[in-house]
Amino acid sequence: MAKQAKKRTTKKTAARRPRQAPKMLSDLFLETLKDIYFAENKILKTLPKMAEAANSKQLAAAFNKHLRETQGQVKRLEQIFKMLGKPARGKPCEAINGITDEGAEIMKDFKGAPALDAGLLAAAQAVEHYEISRYGTLRTWAEELGMQDAAKLLQATLDEEEATDHALTELATSVINLEAEQEYRDAA
Ligand SMILES: [Fe+2]
Repeated sequence: MAKQAKKRTTKKTAARRPRQAPKMLSDLFLETLKDIYFAENKILKTLPKMAEAANSKQLAAAFNKHLRETQGQVKRLEQIFKMLGKPARGKPCEAINGITDEGAEIMKDFKGAPALDAGLLAAAQAVEHYEISRYGTLRTWAEELGMQDAAKLLQATLDEEEATDHALTELATSVINLEAEQEYRDAA
């Protein structure tokens, strides 16, 4: 009997324990902000290596230009963390780790090869497309959460990422891919 009473008490205590707050869009926004903050910092370390590896001066210049833009993008994210009253902290993002690992593999496997720049360019565009997807989502969520100032900062970065993507496409079609193909023909 005494045993039964004890059991009932335990059950009652468990029922009184406060439930975990449900995760809201604002939680998802913060988590995704941490994801892209990690990604941007990873890109800051990767871009100088890509610029150094590139054969084409134009491609190296494009990577260096985007490196400077990325520094500004990191600062914008830090401003948004501040608006949220949260510390600027990244959360490991396996997607960007995978994309940059592939880029590193191309640098290693195609070192000195005519197709190296075409590979670097493709890797950089994969990074840009990942970022465009993340920033588009974050901008929309910021609007839905009534964070107009954050939405403006995210839109400014989104514009830069899209402009970079277009510049890389131009380079691919005007110089890089043609060079890779020409050198292949010359070697044949
Ligand atoms: Fe970026």
